[in-house]
Amino acid sequence: MENINTVLLRAKKYLLNNSIKSATIDSEILMCSVLKKSREHLIINILDKIEDDKINFFNELVERRKKNEPIAYILKKKDFWKSTFYVDKNVLIPRPDTEILIEEILSNYCKNQKLSILDIGTGSGCIIISILKDRPNFKGIAIDVCRNALKIAKYNAKMHQLENRIKFYKSSVDNFFKGKYDLIISNPPYINKFNLKYLEKDVIGFEPSLALEGGIDGFTVLKKVIKKSSRLLRIGGKLVLEIGFDQKFKIKELLKKEKYFVNKIIKDYGNRDRCVICTKL
Ligand SMILES: C[S@@+](CC[C@H](N)C(=O)[O-])C[C@H]1O[C@@H](n2cnc3c(N)ncnc32)[C@H](O)[C@@H]1O
Repeated sequence: MENINTVLLRAKKYLLNNSIKSATIDSEILMCSVLKKSREHLIINILDKIEDDKINFFNELVERRKKNEPIAYILKKKDFWKSTFYVDKNVLIPRPDTEILIEEILSNYCKNQKLSILDIGTGSGCIIISILKDRPNFKGIAIDVCRNALKIAKYNAKMHQLENRIKFYKSSVDNFFKGKYDLIISNPPYINKFNLKYLEKDVIGFEPSLALEGGIDGFTVLKKVIKKSSRLLRIGGKLVLEIGFDQKFKIKELLKKEKYFVNKIIKDYGNRDRCVICTKL
């Protein structure tokens, strides 16, 4: 029987030889999931023997990672903000940069405020669920054009005991007319279709193009979100949008045209413009 360290070292080398830059951390995460143990446990017990059936299962996971499948899809879960979400190939993997939207929203509204919110393009539901978990008097609606994504968002809402506070609708933003909201949030697809080919293999090969592609200029869905939110927001209500790093100037123009006041634009962890907060006038 081999020990954990030997099996891990072999996997790391194999992934590195196949251009997986995060080979070390990826192998360790996969090993933790096979052993159902924490990383601390793994490090402390690295010389323990590991059964052959576990080695075989681990090698299967490594093989999937070698083909660039993201760890989150292999493990069917992703940590975001303070929670873990179920994810699969039907939804975008929640990104750390999107946590900036959550941080901003939570810092603007206090614990006992009552608010009606709409999440456009909910995907896994990570945004609306993270907000509602921290704000017990908020209730919300989440929409997505993708039926399979909505199933996952509903599953996540149930897992986080929020199924009674979020309603889900399968709808494209342009066909959605229901209600009036104090706050609308959206992380729409905003990548220009010609730039998709420059994305990392993990992203372009596995994540849904419906969640990534924003048409020929990247603004197709963003424009719809801005226009529709202008009708669905109460006067004084806020729109919080995630945008591409190079979309700030055009977004400001679009927002002014639809009678919003731009409160601020926040940078992401890589110091690129990423989150716009504006008020419906
Ligand atoms: C970038 S993903 C965001 C997912 C999730 N909100 C997040 O931040 O991780 C964009 C989502 O918008 C959905 N979508 C794309 N076009 C849409 C449209 N016209 N109307 C509503 N949702 C749309 C996609 O299916 C996808 O789930």
